[in-house]
Amino acid sequence: ALSQKTIDVVKSTAPVLEVHGVTITSVFYKNMFKNHPELLNIFNHANQSQGRQQTALANMVYAAAKNIDQLENVLPEVVQVAHKHRGLGVKPEHYPIVGKYLLGAIKEVLGDAATDEIIDAWSEAYGVIAQAFIGIEADMYKTSAEQPGGWEGFKELEVIDKVKESDVITSFYLKAKDGTALPSFEPGQYITVRLQIPGEKYALNRQYSLSCAPGNDYYRISVKKEADQEPFGKVSNYLHEKINVGNVIEASAPAGDFTFNMEETAPVAFISGGVGLTPLMSMLETLTKSNENRDVTFIHSARHEGVHAFRDEVKNMVDKLEHGRFLYGYEHPFDQTGGHHFSGYITKEFLKEHITKDTICYVCGPVPFLKNVVQMLTDLGITEDNIRYEFFGPAMSLQTN
Ligand code: HEM
Repeated sequence: ALSQKTIDVVKSTAPVLEVHGVTITSVFYKNMFKNHPELLNIFNHANQSQGRQQTALANMVYAAAKNIDQLENVLPEVVQVAHKHRGLGVKPEHYPIVGKYLLGAIKEVLGDAATDEIIDAWSEAYGVIAQAFIGIEADMYKTSAEQPGGWEGFKELEVIDKVKESDVITSFYLKAKDGTALPSFEPGQYITVRLQIPGEKYALNRQYSLSCAPGNDYYRISVKKEADQEPFGKVSNYLHEKINVGNVIEASAPAGDFTFNMEETAPVAFISGGVGLTPLMSMLETLTKSNENRDVTFIHSARHEGVHAFRDEVKNMVDKLEHGRFLYGYEHPFDQTGGHHFSGYITKEFLKEHITKDTICYVCGPVPFLKNVVQMLTDLGITEDNIRYEFFGPAMSLQTN
């Protein structure tokens, strides 16, 4: 255990580090990648160059440090990140490397202000935080490898079907190349796809939600082609353009804790923006398969009809439910004749009309959409417990913007 002295030093200096957060972490990443370029096979270069991941990792260390004597306060965040780490193949031996360069960067940026006492305290605290991650991740690796059909690192999956779902979204149906059955997963989970793209020096990893229910003999991911956002789109463009039926990609086993709770019976709403509907597709399909009598509202907002994926699929599933509603709207609507349409953005009035206070809401979409919807649901009196969300990009960035 840490001494009270160490705890005091860490807690009292955490705010100082936060102030220098971006500087410290840019130095940290620069030095770490210079000396350990192999880690570029794990980290997302697009996030790196945007500075997004930088702040995410550092903020989490500071958040954990402030709670260093009661780490259970940040447990949900740790578990969420651990899922991501496990999916990416982060291993115990990586932690001392990150620790070394993070501490080094703190020293470099703070200069004389970083006394030995401060550095030693942070080094100890980092060790405790790292151990928490390592322990949780070890369990996750074990669970992943031990379940029927499961595996620990990356496995070759073969594309058995490729289906265009909209102008920008295409689905890939995947099976294990070695013919073994794929493990089950929880609706809402994602897989990490790892690609070696010709001309790229390092492997590129991206997370994609599984967009089908568990229990099929395939996995399905549905990928949005990020055409106008280089360098984000390297992986999605390669998948869309170069990966076809018969090709093989590598992926880690399903991970993630944005999952659907089947035990609950309260009304449920699935609210998505754009490609954010993918994990919710899995949840909806799971519900239709389980013969549930639950009250279900599926709300989707897309930029326009051309980019609206799965319209028929959702409609068919919702029609099978005894109490199901499907509402969708376009930010640039051009067809407002159908009774199911709403036009423009999702508004508070709209949500108020369609969602009762006891509804459990699963929300997924880009950050601005998510912030907006979560705020409106909160304003409408939906409890924090009943607003469950996932968005794209590093988790802590929601708090830091
Ligand atoms: C992602 C925290 C150690 C590799 C993240 C995220 C956080 C985080 C908050 C963002 C999660 C998200 O995207 O939702 C931490 C903390 C660590 C730690 C607090 C130490 C105690 C490590 C280590 C490695 C690593 C040792 C491996 C060398 C990654 C990668 C990502 C990530 C590759 C995804 C980043 C991206 O795709 O840009 N981590 N991490 N992390 N972490 Fe860690």
